[in-house]
Amino acid sequence: MTELSSTVSMDKIVSLARRRGFIFQSSEIYGGLSGCWDYGPLGVELKRNVKQAWWQATVQERDDTVGLDTSILMHPKVWEASGHLQGFSDPLVECKNCHMRWRSDELKEPKCPSCGGELTEEKMFNLMFKTFAGPVESVENIVYLRPETAQGMFVNFQNVINTTRRKLPLGIAQTGKSFRNEITTGNFIFRSREFEQMEIEYFVKPGTDEQWFEYWHQERFNWYIKLGIKKEHLRLYEHPKEKLAHYARRCIDVEYLFPHGWAELEGIANRGDYDLRQHSKVSGKSLDYYDDDTKEHYLPNIIEPSAGVDRSLLAFMCDAYAEEPDKDETRVVMHFNPALAPIKIAILPLSKKENLAAFTKPIFNDLRKQWAVQYDDTQSIGRRYRRQDEVGTPYCVTVDFQSLEDNRVTVRERDSMHQIRIPIVELKKTLEKKLAGEDILVLPPGGEVVQAKGKE
Ligand code: GAP
Repeated sequence: MTELSSTVSMDKIVSLARRRGFIFQSSEIYGGLSGCWDYGPLGVELKRNVKQAWWQATVQERDDTVGLDTSILMHPKVWEASGHLQGFSDPLVECKNCHMRWRSDELKEPKCPSCGGELTEEKMFNLMFKTFAGPVESVENIVYLRPETAQGMFVNFQNVINTTRRKLPLGIAQTGKSFRNEITTGNFIFRSREFEQMEIEYFVKPGTDEQWFEYWHQERFNWYIKLGIKKEHLRLYEHPKEKLAHYARRCIDVEYLFPHGWAELEGIANRGDYDLRQHSKVSGKSLDYYDDDTKEHYLPNIIEPSAGVDRSLLAFMCDAYAEEPDKDETRVVMHFNPALAPIKIAILPLSKKENLAAFTKPIFNDLRKQWAVQYDDTQSIGRRYRRQDEVGTPYCVTVDFQSLEDNRVTVRERDSMHQIRIPIVELKKTLEKKLAGEDILVLPPGGEVVQAKGKE
């Protein structure tokens, strides 16, 4: 059986991301800063949509979770309690010849991958970025940029319980930046030094942790599929007991088939009561939960689904990418789920003529109140469709001179390239339905199919 491999190369994704303004290298005019990336006008929309889709599924549509937004800088004791100061390290080796540094657990051979030189003894390198709080650069003022958002939720557990009067099971969710001084970065935005996470800390009664662990890894696996990732490009990987992180009882990764191979998209861990026990011990404050139903005090267990925004975004881009034959050419199309598409609708007046622009602008202004809409009146209509396909815009609305007379416009679907012509009064409602998944060929009153095979 042949091994499944990604259908797109990383070069193609990087090139499209750069060319169309999704992602740029950080500080590019100065030669870039390794492991840091900037999101361009389309990238920022895509990223917002990924986070919004996550928030909708994990907070908005659930009765048992609440949101939080905690600070990046935290009391240094947090990192003592969490174990990050002592243990958040990767094994580092240096080449004695060229002085390049490598993560030794990722080397295939015991020599420098760059020049073949001899390597130093392995030493542990702590991945946390350090800085100083306040104007004095002294040891007691050292603070760390958080390497995960999780700790902000653990240390606020009591605040959330007390202020929301919620009962267990209770999830706390947040998205935000995290920083890791990775020894090696790479594979585009897959591993960077500054990235964003989407984490849930789900607090449960001890003894129910296994059942919730099962629930959450299935739930999170299905989230990616619901948003358009092909099932055969996803798999679950359970960490063997001997390789588990110090805080974990069990951990299952959702892996995606990236262009560089299968790799972690999200980790779902059963953290037991490790975190609350540690914070309680180091802070001296009880973090017990009083269970009103059973009249017991106990330390909750925690199930943690922890995802990366950038990694998810990369997976969504890779999975959406397609090159398809179109007439005598090939079109590049991003088959983004409409919820993720950076631009939902493009408004394309057939020409720049003033009377057509004056007619089209009010339609544009009306739709943009509800969606991210782009107005494009340059070059041929065919080229404009290609441009929108390449950034994954689900629907194009074309306004032509006939529209001035019959008050109808053409709606063209990205994936099928089918076109329908519908009254402008029906446009908003129709787009709403199509973006929610209705077939393009289902017509509103007064609509007609213009092109059902879709080759314009
Ligand atoms: N609180 C648990 C935690 O942080 P993790 O497996 O270290 O667990 C969770 O990180 C997720 O964060 C990963 O699955 C990945 O998506 C993302 N992530 C971690 N390190 C990253 C990096 N250097 N660059 C980009 N994303 C990263």
